[in-house]
Amino acid sequence: MKAAVLHDFGKPLSIDHVADPTIGTGEVLVDVVATPVLSYTAEVLSGARQYLLPTPVVPGGGAVGQVLAVGPDATRLKRGDWVFCDPTVRSRDGGLTPDVALQAVSARGEGGQQLQQYFRDGTFAECVRVPTENAAPIGAIDPENAGHWCALATLLVAYGGLLAMDFRPGETLLVSGATGNFGSATVALALAMGARCVVAPGRNVGVLDDLRRRFGERLRPVQLSGEPAVDTLAMQAAATGPIDAVQDFLPPSVGAAIARTAIMTLRQGGRAVLMGGVGMLGGEDLALPYPWIMRNLITVRGQWMYDTLAIPRLIGLIRGGVLDLDQWTVTAFPLNQANNAVVHAAGNAGPFKLTVLKP
Ligand SMILES: NC(=O)c1ccc[n+]([C@@H]2O[C@H](COP(=O)([O-])OP(=O)(O)OC[C@H]3O[C@@H](n4cnc5c(N)ncnc54)[C@H](OP(=O)(O)O)[C@@H]3O)[C@@H](O)[C@H]2O)c1
Repeated sequence: MKAAVLHDFGKPLSIDHVADPTIGTGEVLVDVVATPVLSYTAEVLSGARQYLLPTPVVPGGGAVGQVLAVGPDATRLKRGDWVFCDPTVRSRDGGLTPDVALQAVSARGEGGQQLQQYFRDGTFAECVRVPTENAAPIGAIDPENAGHWCALATLLVAYGGLLAMDFRPGETLLVSGATGNFGSATVALALAMGARCVVAPGRNVGVLDDLRRRFGERLRPVQLSGEPAVDTLAMQAAATGPIDAVQDFLPPSVGAAIARTAIMTLRQGGRAVLMGGVGMLGGEDLALPYPWIMRNLITVRGQWMYDTLAIPRLIGLIRGGVLDLDQWTVTAFPLNQANNAVVHAAGNAGPFKLTVLKP
């Protein structure tokens, strides 16, 4: 099959003919119809993000495609089914603490790296081998819409945070990084799930205006000044009531103080979910004040990706018509233009824009 191969960090992707993947028990082979290219793929491939990936490797996490073959233990999936290939590969022998690898993106710890060695190659290829449970059925779709269905990859991450904080209809959410890719997906989801309102802080007025245009009154934009005391008040004033929860999606380039300022807008009993990259490349620690957490009964938790149950529930929101994938603008590239797709994705980050490869 044809695949885009990263031979070494810092080298361009090479479009090679590689051996077709074969499957065993507990695995599924999927014909990749569309696969998302994240805005920071160039940083992963250059090595700047220091993600743990063995090379050579076929990059690409997540895809929309059709089942080509299933292992002997698959009881429902069959050839031709449309599936989302969930890149979150979990060890099956991990009990309460499974090892996790993001297939062909990154891995956590020694066990995660072991998984990554095995489920090594990703979706920048004509087909991909995934664990059976990672081929999540999405129901019949128009093949022309496969690119739009790649928004699942972003939405699922956002949804993982909202499920982790047990976000409820009628609540007010603040999204730190609301103008970014994952942040804007969180905004769309929280509103679809019945948020009273969503506070969206950001620096880019044009993007904030666009969010307001898309979502109307329930979207509360706040232009950040960079001055913590001013920004805290502005974010609290923008909400129609107390802020129940904060979801943080700030990238590694952002100082911890920005994240802290947003989290400290929470009401008594509020919950914060940390999902961004703050501190991953060093810098100041988040350092939330102990007395503030204690006296205000605050819950702070981290979230990496999502539970498998998030997938059918998210499909339900889409199929039920409350979440519209047409909000995303898709730019598609053929596989042999994978390097152009990576450059395009970097230059077109932000809300409701998807760069995809169509192998
Ligand atoms: N936990 C997980 O499972 C998971 C999964 C995937 C990705 N992630 C992480 O999610 C993070 C976000 O990714 P993304 O693709 O959404 O990034 P992105 O599209 O580049 O968005 C970045 C956001 O950060 C804001 N920002 C940047 N500098 C800022 C500053 N100085 N002050 C305030 N806001 C600032 C931007 O807003 P303005 O420019 O408008 O100010 C924008 O809203 C990454 O670190 C990624 O690694 C986590």
